[in-house]
Amino acid sequence: MIGFIYRKIIKPILFKFPADDVHTHFLKMGNYLGKNNSIKNFLSSILHYKNIILNQKVAGINFENPIGLAAGFDYDADLIEILPSIGFGYHSIGTVTNLAYEGNPRPMLGRLPKSRSLLVNKGFKSMGMSSVLKKINKRRTDSIPLGISIGSTNKTYKKIEDMAEDIYFSFDKVLKVDYFDYFELNISCPNLINVENLKEKFDDPVGFAILLNKLSYLNINKPLFIKMHAEKSVKDTLSLLSVAENYKWITGVIMSNLVKNRNNKSFDKDEIKNAGRGNFSGKPTEEFSNNLISEVYKKYKDRFIIIGCGGVFNAADAYEKIKRGATLVQMITGMIYEGPSVIGEINKDLAKLLKKDGYKSVSEAVGKYHK
Ligand SMILES: Cc1cc2nc3c(=O)[nH]c(=O)nc-3n(C[C@H](O)[C@H](O)[C@H](O)COP(=O)(O)O)c2cc1C
Repeated sequence: MIGFIYRKIIKPILFKFPADDVHTHFLKMGNYLGKNNSIKNFLSSILHYKNIILNQKVAGINFENPIGLAAGFDYDADLIEILPSIGFGYHSIGTVTNLAYEGNPRPMLGRLPKSRSLLVNKGFKSMGMSSVLKKINKRRTDSIPLGISIGSTNKTYKKIEDMAEDIYFSFDKVLKVDYFDYFELNISCPNLINVENLKEKFDDPVGFAILLNKLSYLNINKPLFIKMHAEKSVKDTLSLLSVAENYKWITGVIMSNLVKNRNNKSFDKDEIKNAGRGNFSGKPTEEFSNNLISEVYKKYKDRFIIIGCGGVFNAADAYEKIKRGATLVQMITGMIYEGPSVIGEINKDLAKLLKKDGYKSVSEAVGKYHK
């Protein structure tokens, strides 16, 4: 019923306004409502679905359900208080960068409804790490597991060591506070201005090793997940992971980020012809993400915990990722198109699918296709 109201009444109104404005207002409203316990209890009573079959302990963290909010929606940590009421099992803020960046020129967001996709041209808009940490201010004990995605400040660097140092500074700040349960290292943002002139990059094995060696000087004491590219070949992805596997503080991988290629068959031809500058989320990412999940799971099994991300709109989409090898799932675009009630709906339907297949817990279904 709530989903129906969102899709038929609320979404058509919201979609009449520029996506950038709707997103900014949504964050402000979420921040405001998150301070009101009655509203949170009310939202929880109508949206939040709980079922023991969805519980998992992953890398020492208890997840009430496997569906999380991916990095990119709550980039400056406005929704920490409201999101548990919506029904997410966990939540990544960011990507946060060491220094502030006001974002690329607007529009930073666009909609491709026929393609079930969003156009993203933010370029790591961020208040900067120090301001974000100041804003969060304390660890929330009543919250769902909270992660922070960290990437390099969007500026020009002379050499890759400087870019690695920028990320090092961010981690150094984050490790001094105890606000987060896990970290994401984003090496795959496809629309940064800062990498064109560099010989090595974080997405080639040499540049990636430079970054990981630099971070090894720190004591990264919480699970860390690498956010991977969607459009890299399986061979290139596995060669990056052959570097990552040597660093035991790397817990897992997130497959995957946005796509760039406009010839993707999931796009509606007219929509993609008229799309502005940027990269794409939603259904055009799904096949890439699913394929990489399977290939990485087959090769690495338990060495890397996989978080599946890309094109999840319903429980069947999430279940597919789990059966391919994802222990957890993340999403953004499905929530924009289907409304916030979709989180509870996905969890409820996922519990049904698991029961139907005879599983007692979501973990039993992880990687089922390859067993
Ligand atoms: C508006 C928007 C902003 C995003 N910004 C980031 C980001 O800052 N860092 C990141 O790792 N991924 C970012 N992403 C990518 C998402 O985390 C996710 O990988 C991708 O959208 C595929 O998931 P989806 O189809 O469920 O949206 C962004 C996606 C969207 C839609």
